Amino acid sequence: MLKTFVANGELPGSITVKEYHGRYFPASIPDIASQWKLMQSFEADSNDVIICSYPKSGFHWIWEVVTMLFNNTSNISKELPAKYVLEFGAVSKVQQSPPPRVLGSHLYYEELPVSIRQKKCRLINVIRDPRAVAVSSFHFFTKIKEAKLKGTWSGYLNLFLDGKVMFNDWFHHAQLWESVRQSNSDNPIHVLYYEDAKKNPFYEFKRLARFLQLDVKESTIMAIAEKTKFSEMKAPKEAAIGHNFGNAFAGNKYPLYRKGREDDWKSYFTLQQNAQFEQIYKERMQYNKLQLKSVVIPGNNDTGCVEDTRYGSKL
Ligand code: A3P
Repeated sequence: MLKTFVANGELPGSITVKEYHGRYFPASIPDIASQWKLMQSFEADSNDVIICSYPKSGFHWIWEVVTMLFNNTSNISKELPAKYVLEFGAVSKVQQSPPPRVLGSHLYYEELPVSIRQKKCRLINVIRDPRAVAVSSFHFFTKIKEAKLKGTWSGYLNLFLDGKVMFNDWFHHAQLWESVRQSNSDNPIHVLYYEDAKKNPFYEFKRLARFLQLDVKESTIMAIAEKTKFSEMKAPKEAAIGHNFGNAFAGNKYPLYRKGREDDWKSYFTLQQNAQFEQIYKERMQYNKLQLKSVVIPGNNDTGCVEDTRYGSKL
């Protein structure tokens, strides 16, 4: 069912989503009920890996990195990672492919195909500063024709903070996945922060290789870190993916490679919006180990997520 959300108060903003079982999908998905059924029929293999992230957190980037690690190469693939997202019809593409398959999903753990849990597949949570996610999704959703996103950044931010956007509320997503990690689910789960991978890709990709139990030479990991830099990937990937999914987007082009920066959100958030965001973050994330440095350490200007001091971890 199509649903249009309007921003609160006088803020100009509205967005159209497709609702299914209380979840908000891109309005451009033709038949979400059949996609859902197909997805649930997926027969996972224990070697498959699923990258689970809230949209616009860096899935495409990390899909490329994981694919390179599995193939022991730094060659950029010609694939569009979005085609490997379970709820976007990946199953028909990969069901017959040999494992390990590198898949993605923006769903909650409980919504994943049951075979993924039964086979104890490895899961990777990619997490990005929600302010960067908000800005990135504002640009991306503006380009989805059927989202009919209207209004300004401030109107969109209001919708985002209310969870009235595609794939619902960022905070709820973060809470549910945190509780899965805390409950020691049967699936091994690795957390990768977008901002950490930007700062130290070699170290983060080495950790990733270790999690995936892959024996990849340091020189290859170094080459992967270099080749998957935003500036290196944008042109070859755009050329390779061409008009995939094009019809759904303004300009008939998949608008993925925008800026790829960790601090671009600072050009959008006003001081007042940031203060409002911090207030909401402190309230809604108080029992979550994911804490933003700039929110928990007064005066800290750093972007990105770190684990909380309350558990005596990284700070
Ligand atoms: P921006 O819109 O801020 O540029 P997802 O893949 O989850 O949809 O996330 C998309 C975001 O990841 C976009 O952010 C995109 O530019 C960024 N991105 C894509 N490839 C990247 C790379 N190689 N390095 C860093 N960021 C990348």
